[in-house]
Amino acid sequence: MTIALICPEKAPTPWLTAFAEQAPDINIEVWPNISNNDAITLALCWQQPTGSLLEFSHLNVICSMGAGIDHLLNDKKMPANIPVTRIIDPNLATSMFEYLLTAVTDHMSALNKYRQQQAQGNWQWQRQVPFSKTHIGILGLGQLGSHCASKFAQLGFQVSGWSTSKKDIDQVTTYSQDEFDDFIKVPDVLICLLPLTDATRGILNKSLFNQLKSGCYLINVARGGHLVEADFIEGLERKQLSGACLDVFEQEPLPASHPFWQLSNVTITPHCSSLTRPRSVAKQIIENYHRGNNHEALINVVDISRQY
Ligand code: GLV
Repeated sequence: MTIALICPEKAPTPWLTAFAEQAPDINIEVWPNISNNDAITLALCWQQPTGSLLEFSHLNVICSMGAGIDHLLNDKKMPANIPVTRIIDPNLATSMFEYLLTAVTDHMSALNKYRQQQAQGNWQWQRQVPFSKTHIGILGLGQLGSHCASKFAQLGFQVSGWSTSKKDIDQVTTYSQDEFDDFIKVPDVLICLLPLTDATRGILNKSLFNQLKSGCYLINVARGGHLVEADFIEGLERKQLSGACLDVFEQEPLPASHPFWQLSNVTITPHCSSLTRPRSVAKQIIENYHRGNNHEALINVVDISRQY
């Protein structure tokens, strides 16, 4: 029995190293160089090419290399009857929070403006807002969103969060599906941490921006598909949005000719906010490999009908 790594857009070496260290007895092969398709029982995937999973007649686990599974579902020929799992790792939540805290404090301390002033030799104070006067709103209170909401609240920020089913998080005001209109008018900083589904695609659009407090700052660390790019640029132009920090894009890598690169009040990072560390997550994949082979219940299973 063998694990197939199907990740044409990512380097497989860190995964091979992690498995070699933690389970040297397991055979791993990198697609498309698979010696025996019938031996594959677990496919570890990131953006697998359409139809590639159909090559394996004994597949019993499809595992996402990350927390999200939208990249798997882009494959319209993905076998429907095979369980799908995703990564759940405290390190993902920690690194997401560390990224977000950096982005929020960079914005609140006006560091971007100071960098621009520095280039012009301009000594000028900017407004600096204390944590306690800043309201952070988080769209999506899954594993990552709940962790980050709680951490921001512990630091003294005012925090609220919106999710389809209402969550209970200490010191965080939570809103459920039908309370969106109440949630969206409060934040000074809006963070998108939603899964990308049919229901959330394009949610960061003109209508949402119009409901925000004027001058709200946007941070998108979820998926580029959440953001309607033309509405975003227009929201910045009319100062409904004061700026943004974007880590995810409809097209990645973001093409050099993309207009986002030219926006002086937008910080762009290369989808680095919460990277899966193979060494940290290999154990849970190995666990599912054995469970799948022994026909036991898997861990971190995703309900495909919910798309996350
Ligand atoms: C990263 O974007 C992930 O889904 O883990």
